Amino acid sequence: MDYEERITAAELGEGEERSEKTLRPQTLADYIGQKKAADNLKIFIEAAKLRGEPLDHVLFYGPPGLGKTTLAGIIANEMGVDIRITSGPAIERAGDLAAILTNLNENDVLFIDEIHRLNRSVEEVLYSAMEDFALDIIIGKGPSARSIRLDIAKFTLIGATTRAGSLSAPLRDRFGVSCKFEMYSADELKQIIGRSAEILGVCVDDASMDEMARRSRGTPRVANRMLKRVRDFSQVKGDGNIDAAITHQALEALGVDPMGLESLDREILRMIIERFNGGPVGIDTIAASIGEERVTIEDVYEPYLIQAGFLHRTQKGRVVSEQAYKHLGISCEEGQMSINISE
Ligand code: ADE
Repeated sequence: MDYEERITAAELGEGEERSEKTLRPQTLADYIGQKKAADNLKIFIEAAKLRGEPLDHVLFYGPPGLGKTTLAGIIANEMGVDIRITSGPAIERAGDLAAILTNLNENDVLFIDEIHRLNRSVEEVLYSAMEDFALDIIIGKGPSARSIRLDIAKFTLIGATTRAGSLSAPLRDRFGVSCKFEMYSADELKQIIGRSAEILGVCVDDASMDEMARRSRGTPRVANRMLKRVRDFSQVKGDGNIDAAITHQALEALGVDPMGLESLDREILRMIIERFNGGPVGIDTIAASIGEERVTIEDVYEPYLIQAGFLHRTQKGRVVSEQAYKHLGISCEEGQMSINISE
């Protein structure tokens, strides 16, 4: 199955942006989870508003699907300003960024997703924009080239990245606030599912909310997507209400197991067990063995496998845990090879 087709994909699929927006909270009061980041931001927003200044630049980092864009939208809303949303790869040239920056109004928010993918020349324009709210523009070429400084409106840059380690030091240093996004607890996901069900106007019983929360791999985007697919099943196979039986039937059909793993997650674990005796094995070897890009494994699959305790990252490489053997029904004592459950 393509990564984009997985119900547990944390990235947004095509056409999902619009439907997700309706479920997105608009205020900090409605935002569930990321308590530390949200509580701190509440103070910083209030202080910036009291001073009549833009909020300091903010960096969000952590796995995909945890609500970075949502929280950026809330910040803009709470500050009473507009937000312009773009991404690192979308800003190809310095001129593209200059065009965006010169169109911002005072105190506006510029949100750059995947900010670690900005190219060097664009990043350099961003330095003076962030620090001095000015653009240094080079006019002409060669020895007669000269630089002019253009003032721009004071703004807040909110940068989001799945890999804070890939950010250059000069860029990282220019953010006044840095927030690490953590995976959500089952309880927080249950609250999010309850809120979304209310917005969608669908009746879900408590056990089903628990079940979906448990299988959503700590990610609201997965939880909301799962809720919508289970709702589809309830409308076609049931009476439109979501109960435990429909939930089980839907999740079984979607290939999401009780721990929220899908076939590729299980394939990664099984491959490490069967070919590498459970590890340690290097990330590049894993990527080559299952035919995925290294960054996809690192950013998309690994975070949850690690968080759920199925995989450990060690100096020598990735090692599968005893829990993973149990989950896959593989005995870990006798040469790790007595497989009880086949896919
Ligand atoms: N929908 C998606 N993420 C959410 C969150 N953190 N709180 C409330 N609703 C959400």
